[in-house]
Amino acid sequence: MVRAYGIKVPKSLKRKRSDEELGSEGADYRDHAREDEMKNVDLIEDMPSIPIMPPVDESKKHGVIFILDKAPLEIGKVGNKHQLLNSDEHANFLKKQGKDPSEYRPDIVHQAILAILDSPLTKAGRLQALYIHSTRNAIIEVKPHVRIPRTFRRFCGLMVQLLEKQKITAVGNREKLLALIKNPVTDHLPVNSRKIGLSYSSNKLVHVRDYVAAASDDVNLVFVVGAMAHGVIDKGYIDDFISVSNYPLSAACCLSRICNALEQKWKIL
Ligand SMILES: C[S@@+](CC[C@H](N)C(=O)[O-])C[C@H]1O[C@@H](n2cnc3c(N)ncnc32)[C@H](O)[C@@H]1O
Repeated sequence: MVRAYGIKVPKSLKRKRSDEELGSEGADYRDHAREDEMKNVDLIEDMPSIPIMPPVDESKKHGVIFILDKAPLEIGKVGNKHQLLNSDEHANFLKKQGKDPSEYRPDIVHQAILAILDSPLTKAGRLQALYIHSTRNAIIEVKPHVRIPRTFRRFCGLMVQLLEKQKITAVGNREKLLALIKNPVTDHLPVNSRKIGLSYSSNKLVHVRDYVAAASDDVNLVFVVGAMAHGVIDKGYIDDFISVSNYPLSAACCLSRICNALEQKWKIL
């Protein structure tokens, strides 16, 4: 039995705490609270010797979009339960249905998502969007601030819930944290997107760090990485097709390389 999914609201957000309650350990909290208050006040006072910094518009910061392609997320009724089919647990079931168990690797999707969401890039708020295109042609939108279960068993439970109910909402405000959205995925990409597909089989071998450093800040970078064990991503909508290593890598390793290169480009530590 998998626990229903939801996000916890940090206690610090549930009520405003006084300085006395916070004590010296609350200095960070107080600083953040003051920063937030300052944002709401139009306080540009012209002081002669202190230059005024223009307010930082977070929405103007550059971000990245990832698409995990050919993700093997498929539900099957095994016994009397609906389960996310995977080669470890359901090899016999799949073989009986004439399917190749080696193609059922949702663990690759799980690791790929964690590689993106765990990155400093995402923590710095630069993940614009994450989409998963499944082998069954479902498109899933994953909100950048969602917390994905770290254990595979719970991840499978979450995916079953998502594919059956079409969405997973946050406890409290009903925000859709994961949701099935309309095909094709390209309809959800911003204009001026550069769609970069990754494959070991591409003839264009690049050093990711140089590649992203050279990319114009006027385009929206969209990286398409396969979340499957075999095969090549859908090249139909790809603008550039690159290889990032002399070796066949895991999807998670490729994604970490991209995140790392963008962190260097945008000076995220
Ligand atoms: C386990 S691999 C799939 C293997 C598949 N034969 C291939 O190379 O595309 C998962 C994904 O990682 C990416 N990938 C793996 N090695 C790569 C490389 N050297 N350069 C670029 N992308 C790579 C591709 O997007 C691939 O779809």
